[in-house]
Amino acid sequence: RVAGPCVLVLFGVTGDLSRKKLLPAIYDLANRGLLPPGFSLVGFARRDWENEDFRQIAYESVKAHARTPFREDVWTHLSEGMHFVPGEFSDPGAFEALSMAVKELDESRGTGGNYAFYLSIPPKFFPQVVEQLQRSGLADRKEGAWRRVVIEKPFGSDLKTALELNDTVHRVFPEESIFRIDHYLGKETVQNILALRFANTMFEPIWNRSFVDHVQITMAEDIGIGGRAGYYDGIGAARDVIQNHLLQLLALTAMEEPTSFRAEAVRTEKAKILSSVRVPGDLAVATARGQYAAGWQGGVNVKGYLDEDGIPADSRTETYAAIKLEIQNRRWAGVPFYLRTGKRLSRRVTEVAMVFQKAPHLPFSQTDTEELGQNALVMRVQPDEGITVRFGSKVPGTSMEIRDVNMDFAYGESFTETSPEAYERLLLDVLIGDPPLFPRQEEVELSWKILDPITEYWASRGGLDQYKSGGYGPESADELMARDGRTWRRL
Ligand code: BG6
Repeated sequence: RVAGPCVLVLFGVTGDLSRKKLLPAIYDLANRGLLPPGFSLVGFARRDWENEDFRQIAYESVKAHARTPFREDVWTHLSEGMHFVPGEFSDPGAFEALSMAVKELDESRGTGGNYAFYLSIPPKFFPQVVEQLQRSGLADRKEGAWRRVVIEKPFGSDLKTALELNDTVHRVFPEESIFRIDHYLGKETVQNILALRFANTMFEPIWNRSFVDHVQITMAEDIGIGGRAGYYDGIGAARDVIQNHLLQLLALTAMEEPTSFRAEAVRTEKAKILSSVRVPGDLAVATARGQYAAGWQGGVNVKGYLDEDGIPADSRTETYAAIKLEIQNRRWAGVPFYLRTGKRLSRRVTEVAMVFQKAPHLPFSQTDTEELGQNALVMRVQPDEGITVRFGSKVPGTSMEIRDVNMDFAYGESFTETSPEAYERLLLDVLIGDPPLFPRQEEVELSWKILDPITEYWASRGGLDQYKSGGYGPESADELMARDGRTWRRL
């Protein structure tokens, strides 16, 4: 799969995402020979830069963050196609200049009028930029050429704002030209959920309410909010990652087999499962949230959320959220799906664990089975990518003692191929025009419908549990599980 000739216009080129992920991913694609020879990259930002300044910033990002080794020839070739256009989003003149720049590239580098616009900018600027793209003619599709627009989350902050955002973008771009990025879908291990389920025979027969007791989806981070106060405060853990990453993980884990792996078929199944998700009636017992307090992490004393730069001292933004959901269909009725995410927890781990029902009967003595838990199949998304099956096994010795053991598949051990970074895969799909890994608007709306009652409930209710940095999250999250006679998997 190699992309055809095109220009990628990057808005927000000075931001964190561009420097840490996008520019390195573009270089990695070039290094793997996946970009066409005339590929051109135009950076647009409010900086008084020349092309050379842009190239220098990109060079530093690539050196610091690219996955593949640095090769002078690849870099030189790539940087020849890099240009910078300075300007404000509000200035029509800047967009005229941008339009001239891409047209020149079409002529000098044979990019054929194919443009992808990547909006790596705060959503409040989307309306302005989209409008300017239209006004300057940049969004007009020429015969035989394509235009695509890439938008980063947050796709709104609730259903209402998501619909408004969608209207804004749709005024100029048709749905098939819109690529919404959820970088979790670009992760190998996330795509492997579908491979595990639908390329094998042994898992699907037990993937249902007859065998599964409950499902735990965890995205724990050890980092705090870093320099992202402006984005994060007022948004919080649920909107930041449950609305998108965790609900996408839930959809892939719980959905039915798609008729093919074409975009429409996969997205249709995801939308079907998301529309069967129900939030339990009593949100006081089905949700928990918290905010990190100061603590120790990896031997370092770290600040609490309220002491982070740029966070108001009375902020009630949650940095941890746990939610119990139900899926109302024949496969999953009665099987709770517990989702949890938090910052400043003891370690970084993302996983989906199917926890199976207890054996209906154990023909062993109670003392011999004391250390026996429930069987589990754990899809380890990161950092230790792989799959674990946990089951009881006889302890060597003269008695029939049984204890849990793990059977592991590790990506690193089984494959010599290196996995591309999520953004590398997704950027390539944008340039090729391959949409299965991008959520459709319907999925975005369904996810907000699930989340809105919860965030509204939280907003109407005082109090927010504190939890120690470097720990396991607020006690209320443990209590949520304890009420159901269950426990979270250990972090
Ligand atoms: C982003 C969130 O979408 O995902 C961040 O906005 C979070 O808050 C990040 O830190 C985590 O991504 P990853 O790939 O490191 O799990």
